[in-house]
Amino acid sequence: MKPQPSPQPAAPGVVRFYNFLPPGNNFLEDVLAGLARPQKSIPPKYFYDEQGCRLFEAICELPEYYLTRAETAILRTYIAEITQFIGPDAQLIEFGSGAQAKTRILIEALQTLLYVPVDIAEDTLRASSGELARLFPLLNVVGICADYTRPLWLPEFAGAAIRRKVVFFPGSTIGNFTPAEALVFLKQARRAAGAGGVLLVGVDLKKDKTTLDAAYADSKGVTAQFNLNLLARINRELGADFQPSRFRHRAFYDPIMGRIEMHLESLYSQLVHIAGRRFEFATGETLHTEFSCKYSIADFQELGKRAGFTPEKVWTDPEQLFSVHGMVAA
Ligand code: TRP
Repeated sequence: MKPQPSPQPAAPGVVRFYNFLPPGNNFLEDVLAGLARPQKSIPPKYFYDEQGCRLFEAICELPEYYLTRAETAILRTYIAEITQFIGPDAQLIEFGSGAQAKTRILIEALQTLLYVPVDIAEDTLRASSGELARLFPLLNVVGICADYTRPLWLPEFAGAAIRRKVVFFPGSTIGNFTPAEALVFLKQARRAAGAGGVLLVGVDLKKDKTTLDAAYADSKGVTAQFNLNLLARINRELGADFQPSRFRHRAFYDPIMGRIEMHLESLYSQLVHIAGRRFEFATGETLHTEFSCKYSIADFQELGKRAGFTPEKVWTDPEQLFSVHGMVAA
């Protein structure tokens, strides 16, 4: 997708919207290819249909899921420092914007005039952006529905007095990439920020296995519902015949790899049909659905440097659960 001409500022409260997703979003191709692998796997971006977005918002409020609370507290506590670090007249670009809740803290403090949320979930993106535009009448919102795990060119906006771009990537979504994929993404973020631009990225920190295991396998089973919804989505959208009750949610921290692995485990020997193809699951065989990689502060700074950023700031909570890095594009 090539850069678009500079659009005029929209009227207050109006959201402009671009959809860069390919038709069908390659869902069928990715599912068929993923199920044909020796370790069956499906990319985590497919979690986020409407029901998946709702379930993810519920996860963020679970007592065990400390990430959202810790990150929100860091942003609130250090908002003055963060504002000073970023400076005035910044354009805010957010990848994986979701409900845009943390964004409000930044927009209010930075008095942002141009906000570009990028998300794969169109309905959520439209709903959240509309609400945000109503909340901040001076804000221009340009929603981009896109898959940022692939190469992506964002529209350039002239006219407004933008001094620098800030790429905001909260939620430790960076952890859902492998470190090699994270490097590719960070290089893309570096390009989006431009020389002198800022990356503000939320990164979950390595910690004890008990805390991490609980965060991804909560007692109410919401995370299990979120994981199993992927099978229901494949049934709904691709006409498959998964029986979600014949699978169970498995999530565990691997301290050697420093990451959570999330799987759906087949409780029986069973067959699944999708688009005329047949896939066999043995009892105990798993479908891998997600990694959530955890970093030390130093490791993440190293990754940032390799992508062309200079790590300048790190903010953490008192318990050192979570980190927010401020990096400048070299
Ligand atoms: N980036 C978050 C994380 O890794 C989001 C997330 C994706 C998540 N899938 C999840 C959280 C499943 C809990 C359960 O933590």
